[in-house]
Amino acid sequence: MKKCFFAVSLVAWILCLPLEAQNGNKGSRLNSFTPGTIWKDNNGVHINAHGGGILYQEETYYWFGEHKTEGRGGNVAQVGVHCYSSTDLYNWTDRGIALSVSDDPASDIEKGCILERPKVIYNKKTGKYVMWFHLEPKGKGYGGALVGIAQADEVTGPYTFIRSTRATPKSWPVNVLDLHKRPLPEKYMGERANLEPTEHPDSVNTLGRDFVKGQHSRDMTLFVDDDGKAYHLCSSESNSVIHIAELTDDYLDFTGKWVRAFVGRRMEAPAIFKKDGLYYFMGSGCTGWRPNEARSAVAPSIWGPWTELGNPCVDADKETTYHSQSTYFLPVVGKEDAFIYMGDRWTPENAIDGRYIWLPVEFKDGKFILHWYDEWDLSVFDKKE
Ligand code: GAL
Repeated sequence: MKKCFFAVSLVAWILCLPLEAQNGNKGSRLNSFTPGTIWKDNNGVHINAHGGGILYQEETYYWFGEHKTEGRGGNVAQVGVHCYSSTDLYNWTDRGIALSVSDDPASDIEKGCILERPKVIYNKKTGKYVMWFHLEPKGKGYGGALVGIAQADEVTGPYTFIRSTRATPKSWPVNVLDLHKRPLPEKYMGERANLEPTEHPDSVNTLGRDFVKGQHSRDMTLFVDDDGKAYHLCSSESNSVIHIAELTDDYLDFTGKWVRAFVGRRMEAPAIFKKDGLYYFMGSGCTGWRPNEARSAVAPSIWGPWTELGNPCVDADKETTYHSQSTYFLPVVGKEDAFIYMGDRWTPENAIDGRYIWLPVEFKDGKFILHWYDEWDLSVFDKKE
């Protein structure tokens, strides 16, 4: 009888343990962040969730990102979107592949496509988890400039691919100009991946060019506001303008209400957070996998007007964003005004080796700033000035 009681208690105790403890964290348990180092999951394997974003659901954080593989070939999607979960943000449990690429050559997400910067949001109205990502059909470089949309009933998936599309087809932004609606000279009808440094997007009317087909959507993120409205932010118009577009109530489409921001500023890697009613934006310049100096901005409304605040990085190596590129701002639940900058330190020659640069967001003189820390923990958010 005693033995039976012991066995029942043991099973009950195991069931109550957080998942990462049940799986047996093969590395030692972490209690700090060490940006740029190998970050092991519960199996002792470097976390594989690049260009990622995080969703908080029922006291657990879920990290979704690009699953990379070894070598240069590992930059394209050989596997899909990887998911990890954590209750403390330091220790992550491998939850497997949330969205798998397809072996079907007819699929938009055929193995070998480019699938980048996946972001997952939860729709309270439909009870579904919705994933958007940057998608480039296999073998076509970055000319597609599409978003892919997928959906799941469970947070960890499996996600079902729904469709791919350009952004906001056949709708004009709220700040459209007359010049965008004029017919285009023939020589400007061809799409180009990037504009010449001397070309302003309005001088070649990238917006009018893509009106029917839909606007480019390359680097992207999603943002859900306090009222439940969701927005898609992307690098558009040959990477020269950021587009910010409202999503439908089910988060599966664009409403057609959208705005152009930072026209001609050529930014990628959009990331956004909200504090005290203000919207803060961060992006990078356009140098591919090579890091560059970040930009930041603030606005009283997601529709703008956006005021640029300069490079948020303040310590040595600030010109390269500490060798990283923004992907997401993570609000830390239960701590006031606590946001974590999530960036990628890409290693394109061996994609799987890419590192994560997580740093606490600090505020100074109406701006947000990022200091470098070799090691830090969440207690930084408890210290008030
Ligand atoms: C970066 C972009 C990455 C990836 C890369 C390809 O600028 O942020 O997501 O697209 O270019 O060169």
